[in-house]
Parts: sequence; C-alpha cells; structure tokens
Amino acid sequence: MPKKNKINTRLATKLVHAGAEPDPGTGAIMIPIYQTSTYVQSAPGKHKGYEYARSQNPTRKALEDALAIIENAKYGLAFSSGVAATDAVIKLLEPADEVIAASDMYGGTYRLFSKIFEKFGIKFIYTDTSRIENVEASVSKKTKLIWVETPTNPLMNITDIAAISAVAKKAGALLCVDNTFATPCLQNPLDLGADIVMHSSTKYLGGHSDVIQGALMLNDHELRERLYFIQKSCGAVPGPMDCFLVHRGIKTLHVRMKQHCENGHVVAHFLRKHPKINKVYWCGFEDHPHYDTARKQMSEFGGMMSFTLKDDSTDAAIKVMSSTKLFSLAESLGGVESLINHPATMTHASIPREERIKNGLVDGLIRLSVGIEDAEDLVEDLDQALSQ
Ligand SMILES: Cc1ncc(COP(=O)(O)O)c(C=O)c1O
Repeated sequence: MPKKNKINTRLATKLVHAGAEPDPGTGAIMIPIYQTSTYVQSAPGKHKGYEYARSQNPTRKALEDALAIIENAKYGLAFSSGVAATDAVIKLLEPADEVIAASDMYGGTYRLFSKIFEKFGIKFIYTDTSRIENVEASVSKKTKLIWVETPTNPLMNITDIAAISAVAKKAGALLCVDNTFATPCLQNPLDLGADIVMHSSTKYLGGHSDVIQGALMLNDHELRERLYFIQKSCGAVPGPMDCFLVHRGIKTLHVRMKQHCENGHVVAHFLRKHPKINKVYWCGFEDHPHYDTARKQMSEFGGMMSFTLKDDSTDAAIKVMSSTKLFSLAESLGGVESLINHPATMTHASIPREERIKNGLVDGLIRLSVGIEDAEDLVEDLDQALSQ
C-alpha cells in the first residue's frame, strides 16, 4: 500500500488509491503494464524480486495489493478467471474431503465441483445454505470447506455469513464466500468471519465487460502461501493488461455501485407492480424471505435481480428477452451496461433440469444485471419489451 494510504482511509478513498504506488522508474501514477514473461538476473538468484511472470508480475502485484485492501484483507491473489480462483480453493483439499456448498449458485461453480472435482474423490454436499440448520446437519468429520454464495446467482437468496462462519469454525472447516454480486462496497465477508473471499472480477470489480478475471482475498499467512503455491504451480494467472483493467475498474467501483443500487431499486419496484410479472427476486424487498439478514450484512442491495412472468412458458420469457433494446441479451453481469439473461439455457445450463427446478430456477426465469444508464430509460425499455 502506498505510504500516503497508511492513514486510516474510508472505502471510497481506499478504492481510488488501493495498490497505487507511483512507478519507481518514472513516477507514472498508473502502474505500467509490464508486458514481460521474464526478468533479467545479474547472477543466478540475484534479481529485483521478479523471476518469471507466472510467479510474479509488478502489474499483477499492484492489483493484488489493491484486492487485499478493498476487502479488508491482508492478502490478495488474482487469477485468470473467477472459476480459476474457485479451482485454486478446491485444490487445497484432498480426496475424501467434504465440501458443503449452496444448492443455488452460479452454474459454472456447480459444474466445476460436480464434473471436475468429484472424480478426484472430493465429495460435495449441496444444501440451501440460507438455512443454518441444513448446513449444521451436513457437517461431518470430513467437512473441510463450506462454500457460500450470497446473494446467490440468480435467485438472490441470502446466507447469514456470521452464522455460517460459526458453524465452519466449530467444524474446523474453512469458509469461502463468493462475494461477486455484493462487491466489497456492499458486503465484507472477512469482517463477518469468512476465511476466504472469492470474486469473479470479470463482473463489478472490472465493471466494463472487457476482461475475464478472478480474485481471492484472505488474512491467514499460511493459507496465502498454500494458495500462492497453487497459483504459480497450476498457472491460471491473469496477464498484465487484464490486471491493469481490473485495477482501473476498482477505482470507480463505489461510484458505479451507487448507481447500480439506485437503478436496481427503481427497476425492481417497477417490475413488481407490472401486471404481467409473477414474481421478482431482489433482496431489497422488505418481504424478501432473507431481508433481515441482507439488511444486517449488506449496506445496500445491488442491481442484480430475477423475475418470472405470469405466463410461465419459456416462449413468453424468450419473447421478452428478445424484445429489449437497451438490455442486451448476454451472459455475464456487473458491467456498466444493462444485461438480460436466461439462466436455464445460458448461465445455469450446466445444472441438471430437475436440480434447477427443485431449487426454484424455473425455465421461465429471467435475470437482469441493471447497469448505470438512466433508470427511466431502463424502465421504458422493459415496459415496451413486456408489452410485445
Ligand atoms: C457468482 C459468480 N461466481 C463466479 C463466477 C465465475 O466467474 P468467471 O466467469 O470470471 O470465471 C460467475 C460468473 O458468472 C458468477 O456469476
């Protein structure tokens, strides 16, 4: 952290300055993109702290310092995608270890767990983690990790991080929280007892739909060393240009999040009153089943939401998704531009249909990532799409 930042700063200041040390060679205020694969040594082992770019890169280091600062962590690690960051956490485990994971979470995380790691003998127990008693009942002597996503993608369920952290500690297991939806602006899982925070930096941290990247933030030194070893040994590291982009994105995260939250509030309330809408899933509604927990651990509710139509056919949902003009039909979320998505066939297609439906992710569900455009334009766009 730069000397000037050693003073105790507030979130907005942290986000702007985190990891931003002037370049020692030139004084450049933005860390240069060190586009290099290796570093010259004056004698074997005599170098300036950088040997080979899979292990270290100054642009990545600046970002990793920033990642730590914004999640109130001691350490940050950047990966080539959110899934690669998740992959690194699971590689901490041994065959026969057990993981308790949310039954409703990003489909790619489920695919990684069930299709890649199960065959290496790691057992995944999926449960509704918003119900602490379910998690307690799933704990065994073999439980080594609890994996929580809150709010969940796409149903916006909320898990009480502090309560789950108590269960994890009692079980002697690590708690990792996917904080992609909330971002450090709305929720800080490490402060609530989590051991590791994971982000798909592709989303709000980057913020401009121009990069794929992931992050882990944590406080424990030994755990950091183990994860760093996995990072450099398995090699899923982001390139310097992508590190630069995410670092730049972080500087405006608080400004963007404020607008995402304001627009999210307007759009969620508009949808809820619309005669063609059946149900809106957004954790800012006072009658959301986990509203109290959301209120307790989040400062605001964000711009992610899902909804179903009264006509619950897939065709009706597809018609709406194909008719928006400002909301682009695309996977991903968290960028400045609004996106509309069909989880059943897009982001969550890798979850078997019966599993999806059992957890409430029906074929007609539509997910929105509300961007930072003018809220009235967004409402007008949805209104015209719903009247097609
Ligand atoms: C909540 C959540 N976690 C993790 C990921 C995976 O991130 P990435 O696509 O950067 O690998 C995603 C991607 O959509 C996500 O929405």
